[in-house]
Order: sequence, then structure tokens, then C-alpha cells
Amino acid sequence: MKKNRLLVAVGLLALFPFTAFADECDLVIEATDQMSFSKKKMSVPASCETVKVTLKHTGSMAKDMMGHNWVLTKTDDMQAIVREGAAAGLDNNYLPEGDDRIIAATEVIGGGNSAQVEFSTEGLADEKLTFFCSFPGHSGMMNGRFNIK
Ligand code: CO
Repeated sequence: MKKNRLLVAVGLLALFPFTAFADECDLVIEATDQMSFSKKKMSVPASCETVKVTLKHTGSMAKDMMGHNWVLTKTDDMQAIVREGAAAGLDNNYLPEGDDRIIAATEVIGGGNSAQVEFSTEGLADEKLTFFCSFPGHSGMMNGRFNIK
């Protein structure tokens, strides 16, 4: 599996020497039973047309107790999404449904699980972006800056 991915990445690099190396656009972040993310900052080169984020919950607590998701919005939109997400409940992954202020979001997962989301960077390069967990009470500790540079 790893070998295949490397071959694909090398192949892409050969075909598109001026675009970013594939793995630079493919980020992994972990979340824990201690209500924390493993990173306070994430960044991708502006040459990434799409970005893939994998969230791994390395704890063991259930998603209704210590659930985590990975949500990306403009920094100015975070508080409203957190507030409206809490009202939307776990069945809606603590996010307002169909809200286009949400640039990307994974589902809420519990310990031992992982989730992925892929999104386009089009139009985002000049925006101030923040990633966070929208589980009620988590975003104060679980947030960070997302840079496209
Ligand atoms: Co959380």
C-alpha cells in the first residue's frame, strides 16, 4: 500500500513538475481522549488544488462522550458554526446542515476510528482559516490556524 502510494506520487511529480508533491496536500491530524488535537497549525502549499485531511481519534472513548470531528471555516465564522452546530446535535455531526460557511468537515468519530475529508482550495488562498472540533465544549481547546501558502 505504502509503496503503491509512493509510486503514484513519484509518477505525478514526473508528470506535473510544477505542481506540489502529492503528499504535501495530504494531511493527517490526531485527536485524543484528552480533548486535544496533535497540531495547532496546519498548512499546505498554494499549489494544492485539493487537500485531503485524515482525522484519527487515538483515544478509546465513545463518540457521544469524547467525539471529535475536523471542521474548516473562515476564522470569523467559527463561533457561529460552533453555536449552531451544538444545537444541531450529534446526529448532524454537531454542524448546521447544508451550511456553505463550512469549507470542509469530517463526521464525528469516537476512539479508534478515523475519518477523511477532501476539499478544493479554490478561492481560499487569501482567507484567514481556522480548523476546529465542533463537539460541544471542544473548540476552545481544539482549534488551530490553517494556512495555504
Ligand atoms: Co472534539
